[in-house]
Amino acid sequence: MADLSVSLGKLRLSNPVLVASGTFGYGEDYQDLVSLKRLGALVTKTITLKKREGNPAPRIVETYQGMLNSIGLENPGFKGFVETQLPFMRKIGIPVIVSISADKAVQFARLARALSRTAGVAAIELNISCPNLGKKGLIAQDARSVYKVVKATRRATKLPIITKLSPNVTDIGAIAKAAGKGGSDIISLVNTYFAMAVDVQTRTPKLGSISGGLSGPAIKPQALWMVRQAYKAVKIPIIGMGGIMNAQDALEFIVCGASAIAVGTATFVDPQSATKIIAGIESYLEEKRIPNLKKVIGSLKDGK
Ligand code: SIN
Repeated sequence: MADLSVSLGKLRLSNPVLVASGTFGYGEDYQDLVSLKRLGALVTKTITLKKREGNPAPRIVETYQGMLNSIGLENPGFKGFVETQLPFMRKIGIPVIVSISADKAVQFARLARALSRTAGVAAIELNISCPNLGKKGLIAQDARSVYKVVKATRRATKLPIITKLSPNVTDIGAIAKAAGKGGSDIISLVNTYFAMAVDVQTRTPKLGSISGGLSGPAIKPQALWMVRQAYKAVKIPIIGMGGIMNAQDALEFIVCGASAIAVGTATFVDPQSATKIIAGIESYLEEKRIPNLKKVIGSLKDGK
């Protein structure tokens, strides 16, 4: 059997396949459909300090080869999460990565501190790249803001920090470097692309909040390119995501430098996508007689 285990700094995973934040809820809804303990890790829907109702409906629109969402971080807030969602996740027996969002560095730090004192949290993902929070720019679009948020969170917790980056930037390398300098142990990318859809019959936006974030296979080649650029810019481990539908897609990200990958939109098509991808990666290694996945990470032969 090939060895699929990977270490992302201090975060050790039995295999490199995670379920992406916002696409798997808090795990409980999938317990009858998916062998949850097979997953490399579960990344929760993003939580905030206070409960959020999210954006007006409609909040999901299907597009060619993709999906638009404008959920707006609906979540039960820190207290609701710890009381109602975390107890189930703790019992699964895989690393639980809690995705967090806030307006300011000090609030990210507060949430991180509170999570550090909460049993059952393996790592924190800083969601600084949600495209659905209104007119203010994304933290992930400004290297100094990224540094500030990561640094403040770093001071507040010893848990591994994953910083989730946006593709809606000119220079992903500069943003990845800022996250690393601030003390991020890992980066994850990409979140969704700013996008919209229009109903020409009514000449109105299809999403209640006008714009949303595009995910799914439509963005995969762009996401792959972003991962490659980030891999060249920083030495910290990368979790790659963006339109991964099958094991071949996942392996493309790993070859380009991702130490692990996250499955998102594919779960809406087939809830078992992530576990099928794990099996597919295993078969690839066995067919190629590669004993260890680590040999594949960043192995792209691009002459550089
Ligand atoms: C949302 O809740 O709006 C989606 C989360 C994200 O894109 O980060």
